[in-house]
Order: sequence, then structure tokens, then C-alpha cells
Amino acid sequence: MNKLITKAVFPAAGLGTRFLPATKASPKEMMPLVDKPLIQYVVEEAVSSGIDQIVLITGRGKRAIEDHFDVAFELEEDLKAKGKHKLLSEVQRIANLVTFCYIRQKQALGLGHAVLTAKRIVGDEAFAVLLGDDIIDAEVPALKQMMDVYKRYPSTILAIQKVPKSQTQHYGIIDGKRIEDGIYLVKDLVEKPSPHEAPSNLAIIGRYILTPEIFSSLENTKPGKGGEIQLTDGLRLLMNKQPIYAYEFRGKRHDAGDKLGFLKATVEFGLKNKEFGEEFRSYLKKLKL
Ligand code: G1P
Repeated sequence: MNKLITKAVFPAAGLGTRFLPATKASPKEMMPLVDKPLIQYVVEEAVSSGIDQIVLITGRGKRAIEDHFDVAFELEEDLKAKGKHKLLSEVQRIANLVTFCYIRQKQALGLGHAVLTAKRIVGDEAFAVLLGDDIIDAEVPALKQMMDVYKRYPSTILAIQKVPKSQTQHYGIIDGKRIEDGIYLVKDLVEKPSPHEAPSNLAIIGRYILTPEIFSSLENTKPGKGGEIQLTDGLRLLMNKQPIYAYEFRGKRHDAGDKLGFLKATVEFGLKNKEFGEEFRSYLKKLKL
């Protein structure tokens, strides 16, 4: 099996209901964390992990994402004419990050269904899936860490993190057998179980390395939680044919698709900002809380 992962699928057709009304007419993926849209953080993580083709699953109302990663002729001419070279090179850099192709998911039928729409473009090779709500701040990009695990365990790899037991209903939860530090062999998976049904507190976070066999599993997956075709359920079927591993990545994950999670991420990324982080810190300290 080819051990290099070069393609990544980005499901981005979701309706962003957790963030209404902000997401009524604008894609949630374009909400800015300090000065970059959320999706750009995740694209940059993929690119710095070695991905050279991104398959973005979009839907109605998501055109701004395509425009963001395209050239912006008028804007570039304007920046050139005004001598704003730093901004110009940043704007141009974004368009040259990586090759994109776009697939429209006509109906939001679930994450598993979104991944399935990429079947023909991905073909017969292992690939990555990255979810834009999960922003992972890590010294070594989380996907790169997973690729390193994949070299030793060339099969499906799920990113996981321990969560408080009271939070299991927000995640896919695995039951696993620890085989080495931070790596588990998955014995079962459940999508969003209530705390008393959850087999553990090991939650799937939005980074996956999937083998092409996931597609036939997804084709046979019935609608599950919320009436949607769940990736977790597809993985549960796949588990009967191939081993699935879970990897506890090193890094801090922010749930930026949630209002409070987004606010926390904004504060933490704001504090780290080279230009105004210190000023922001002293502003926060002075707030009468
Ligand atoms: C999706 C998956 C879930 C996973 C989560 C990670 O859920 O279905 O298994 O734990 O992403 O963020 P969503 O948050 O899209 O509802």
C-alpha cells in the first residue's frame, strides 16, 4: 500500500446551525479567527503535513470559500497600485497554497455522505479528512503526527482526545485497546452517545486518515444519529474488514464551530498574535471582570 497521503477531503457543506444567525448567509468556514478564516488554518495544517490536493465538499451559499483560495485580480491590482506589498504577497500566497477541486454536496445528508461524494476523485488510495470546526494548535501539525503513525500502522487512523464524560454526546466515541503510548486499536465506535451509554471518554476529533475501503462501507451505511449518514457508522462497518487505530494527538484543539469555543479560540490566538498580542493581554488584564 502506498504510504504517502497526498489528498485531503474537506467537508464544508454543513449549514452551520450552531452559529446562527452569523451563518445564515455566510459560510461558517469563513468566520475569521483573528485575521484568517477558519478554513485557512485547516488548509495550512494540511499543506504543512504534505497534502498537495484538496477536495472541498461545498454546497449552496459557500462560494466565498472558492473565492478566498482563488486569485483576486482587482484587489491585487489595487494593492499593487497603493504599494501595499506585504498585504499583496499574503493575498497571493493564499491562492498558491495548494490545488483545489470542488464537489457540490447537493443535500446536507451527513458527514459520511459528504465523504462518499469524493469517491471518484480520491480513487483507490488512502486519504485524509479534515473538519474545519476543529482548529488544532500544535507544534507538529496534527495531521502530520497522524501520517507518522500511518507509516507504522498503514490502515485507518482516527484522531482522538479525552473529553469529560459529561460531553460524550457531542462526539463520536471509541472503545479501544491501548497498544502503545497514545495509540489504540479500535474495538467499537458510537456516534454521540449519552454519557451513560459511552464506552469511554475517548472522543473522535475532526482529523481522519481513511483507506479507500471506507467508500463501500459508507455505501452500505444506513442513516443514523439525526437521520444522517454518519462517518462513525461507516467506520464501524469497516472495522469488520480492517483494523482501525486511534491516535491521541499532541496539541490543543478548539471547537471553533461552537460560539463559546470560537470565543475562547479568538482570545487564545489573539494573545499569541505577534503584532498586538501584548497589547491585547494588557487590555484583558484591565477589564473589570
Ligand atoms: C463530527 C463527527 C463526530 C466527531 C466530531 C469531531 O460531528 O460526526 O464523530 O466526534 O465531528 O468534531 P459534528 O461535530 O460535525 O457534529
